[in-house]
Amino acid sequence: MKDHLTIVRHPLVQHKLTLMRQKDTSTAVFRQLLREISQLLAYEVTRELPMTTRAIETPLQEMDAPVLAGRKLALVSILRAGNGLLDGMLELIPSARVGFVGLYRDEATLKPVQYYFKVPEMLGQRLTIVVDPMLATGNSSVAAIDLIKGKDARDIRFMCLLAAPEGVERMHQAHPDVPIVTAALDERLNEKGYILPGLGDAGDRMFGTK
Ligand code: URA
Repeated sequence: MKDHLTIVRHPLVQHKLTLMRQKDTSTAVFRQLLREISQLLAYEVTRELPMTTRAIETPLQEMDAPVLAGRKLALVSILRAGNGLLDGMLELIPSARVGFVGLYRDEATLKPVQYYFKVPEMLGQRLTIVVDPMLATGNSSVAAIDLIKGKDARDIRFMCLLAAPEGVERMHQAHPDVPIVTAALDERLNEKGYILPGLGDAGDRMFGTK
């Protein structure tokens, strides 16, 4: 993946995103839409996975058929909102290994505070896709990627639903080697670090909390 930022402009993605942004969309519908969009984004983020061939037999003849090469890939969810993207991706890539980074945002400083970290072994030999719906300040994603690089991850991609220019810039400064795939690049952050126009707090909207 060469581009640092890929915006998936597919009509289905954009339509579903608009439904998610609307404030009256219910928790159940929001969660379902996030699951569906995650699979469409996953299609993009895995587009260039290395392939090999395997000798198989169809009912009619033998053939060398394409299959994914290398170790199973790793999905790393930034808790808790990352899990909304994770579920749909796991339906598409059921053999993926899964890691979790628990970071919460200190509301005063907007800086991430770590409370959980568990990731699969041999990240150095796996494509690692980090997922979090909202790339806002970029503090959490930069911190999560710092942590997985500390576990040898080298081939990393970041997948989100919405990105703010501030977060993209921060990621680009800290991790220029990590391509970002998103459904939209919004206008800016507000003074509380929320993305505008955005969709509100992704975790609250998907889990029905306030
Ligand atoms: N996290 C969210 O859930 N929403 C934002 O707008 C920014 C960060």
